Amino acid sequence: MTAPFVHDVPASRVVFGNGRLADVAIEVERLGCSRAMLVSGGPEAQYAVLVEEQLGERIVARFTDVVMHVPVPVAQQAIALAARDEVDVIIALGGGSSTGMAKAVALETGLPILAIPTTYAGSEMTSIWGLTENNRKTTGRDPRVLPRTVIYDPELTVSLPVDISAASGMNALAHLVEGLYAPGLSPLSAMQAQEGVRALAASLPRVVADPSNLDARGDALYGAWLAGWTLGTTGMGVHHKICHVLGGAYNLPHAPMHSAVLPYATAFNADAAPGAMAAIVGALNDAGMPATNAASGIWDLARAIGAPTCLADVGFDVGMVDEAAAIIVAGQPINPRSVDSDGVVGLLRAACVGARPENTP
Ligand SMILES: NC(=O)c1ccc[n+]([C@@H]2O[C@H](COP(=O)([O-])OP(=O)(O)OC[C@H]3O[C@@H](n4cnc5c(N)ncnc54)[C@H](O)[C@@H]3O)[C@@H](O)[C@H]2O)c1
Repeated sequence: MTAPFVHDVPASRVVFGNGRLADVAIEVERLGCSRAMLVSGGPEAQYAVLVEEQLGERIVARFTDVVMHVPVPVAQQAIALAARDEVDVIIALGGGSSTGMAKAVALETGLPILAIPTTYAGSEMTSIWGLTENNRKTTGRDPRVLPRTVIYDPELTVSLPVDISAASGMNALAHLVEGLYAPGLSPLSAMQAQEGVRALAASLPRVVADPSNLDARGDALYGAWLAGWTLGTTGMGVHHKICHVLGGAYNLPHAPMHSAVLPYATAFNADAAPGAMAAIVGALNDAGMPATNAASGIWDLARAIGAPTCLADVGFDVGMVDEAAAIIVAGQPINPRSVDSDGVVGLLRAACVGARPENTP
């Protein structure tokens, strides 16, 4: 029997393929815009010149001060620049941090975003914004921040360092795992999420073996698209709540933290979400990653690609477990298994040890 569902698809245009960055001028025109602010910082800003070559004087503002988790004072500078230069479209070129900065501007101004992602974070497919002030990260959903157009060009990801690629891929996997047991999952989203797990598990080992392998990069970016879409169209559970709290309160690096928590969050939910676990195991096996249970299969994948599996290794102090657990439990995420103090303390302790999760379905 088909369970009841709601399938509410946000509208964004996705252009995918090697060399598709060359379409940026056409896509800006399609949006009816002519005064762009280009948001791009870090090493990925090397691709900004390719955007500038196409758009010329239609780029009226450049914002390079991209900071992870979008500090409010930095966002205010970007908002002021957009207003001063009468910008009518924001082009976000880079990882989740660049997209996040563009979203902060869109949230305030309602300007459209054209996103060109260069990591696997998936923010480009969601209407979720995030801002950080006084060590507290606030997030919300607003349709104004969903990028209207997304250009996925795998060639732009070849320069993403191997360790960041692996951790970013695990960040994408986390969206898929939690989407698969989210109450908002529709049958179509379930198929896409399972395909995303397969695509990432099949491609990330090839990316790590040869970061210049464009086929592997394309497959990983395809998986990241499905992951971002899953994040945008379902709800997230205990895993994302933990990462939200740890990122905001202890400033842990976003993607490595996701990688280190995911096997243990999956084990935590194993008994309560057997359908999701079976889908993950099936997708890992289809990808050629032999797995008999989801949590240890995910741990094996992380180890195979050199991604973190230990929370202490990414900067979390085990002495903070009780304090962090209290904040996480107070947030009461919607999750298949009820989120209580003993459970979260156990999950965080296991993540701090980093051993392979065993004996889960
Ligand atoms: N709102 C959402 O839906 C959503 C979803 C996922 C992540 N996020 C947010 O995104 C941020 C994390 O994004 P991220 O993990 O992509 O990190 P990031 O954007 O900070 O990128 C990670 C590192 O990789 C570098 N980099 C990116 N692309 C590169 C490339 N092609 N070549 C070389 N270096 C490159 C960056 O300069 C940076 O040093 C966090 O703030 C997180 O909260 C938001």
